[in-house]
Amino acid sequence: MNEVELLFTDILNCNRLSLYLNKDIFLDKNISSLVSGALKRRIQGEPIQYILGKTEFLGLEFKVTPDVFIPRPETEILVETAIDIVHSSKFMVHSLLDIGTGSGCIAISLAKFLPKAKITAIDISENAIKIAKQNALLNNVKINFLLSNLFSNYELRTTNYELIVCNPPYIPTAEISGLQPEIKYEPYMALDGGKDGLHFYRRIIDKAPPYLKKGGFLIMEMGFNQKDAIKDIFQKSGYFEIIDVAKDYNNIDRVIIAKKRER
Ligand SMILES: C[S@@+](CC[C@H](N)C(=O)[O-])C[C@H]1O[C@@H](n2cnc3c(N)ncnc32)[C@H](O)[C@@H]1O
Repeated sequence: MNEVELLFTDILNCNRLSLYLNKDIFLDKNISSLVSGALKRRIQGEPIQYILGKTEFLGLEFKVTPDVFIPRPETEILVETAIDIVHSSKFMVHSLLDIGTGSGCIAISLAKFLPKAKITAIDISENAIKIAKQNALLNNVKINFLLSNLFSNYELRTTNYELIVCNPPYIPTAEISGLQPEIKYEPYMALDGGKDGLHFYRRIIDKAPPYLKKGGFLIMEMGFNQKDAIKDIFQKSGYFEIIDVAKDYNNIDRVIIAKKRER
C-alpha cells in the first residue's frame, strides 16, 4: 500500500480494495479533520509510521512512537539470518540477547519464530523499553526486557548467550543533520554512531566475548560501506572469525555474522 492508502484505510477502518470499490465513502467532519491533520503532519515531514502509531515488520504489527526507531525492512534480513543460524547450530537451548531493542522488533520476531528460545532484550532508553514491552504483549511473546547501557546491567552476567544480535546506531555524527527530514523525528540516540559511525561496533565487539558461549554468534546490522572497517575490528579483537556477510534487497552488504572462536 502507498502512504495515502495506508492513511485512509487506517482512518476509515477499511481494507485497500474497499477504498476503490466503495464509491459511497462519506467523509464526515470528524473524519475530514483526522485526514487533514494527518496529511498536514506528513507534509511537514513526520514519518507515516509515527502518524499511524504503528508499522509492520516480518508480517507482525508493532506500535511505534517517536521514542523508538522505526523498524526497517533491511533489519528483517538480520532476523532471518539469526533464525537460520539457530536452526543450523548445535546448541539445544537457545539464549539470545538483543542489544538496543528499540520497538522490540528483532527480539519479538525472534520469539515468534523461535518459540523455544529464551530472549533478553536491552536498551538504554527507558521509554523504548516501555514501548517494546507493549509490543511483546501485542504479539503475545515473553521477553526479558532490561534497561542497560550495553552490558552494564548485572543481570546479563548470569547467562552465556548462544547468540547476540544488534542493530546499533551507525550513522556518523556529522552526517545526521544532512539526512532527509523524516529521520530527524527519530530518537537521536538510535542514530548517532559517533564520529565515524563505528563507535558501537568497537564497544560491542570488545565487550561481548565474556557474554557469549564458545562457538556462539554475534550478528550485527551495518551501514553502507562499513563492512571492511567492521571486519577489521572483528579481526583485531582476536575472539571472532567472520562467517558470512548478508546483502540487503538493494545488494548492499547489510548484516555481518561472526562466530566466537572455540579455543
Ligand atoms: C538503530 S536503533 C535499533 C532499534 C531496533 N533494534 C531496530 O532494529 O529497529 C538502535 C537502538 O540502540 C539503543 N541504544 C543506543 N545507545 C545504547 C546503549 N549505549 N546501550 C543500549 N542501547 C542503546 C537506542 O535507544 C535504539 O533503540
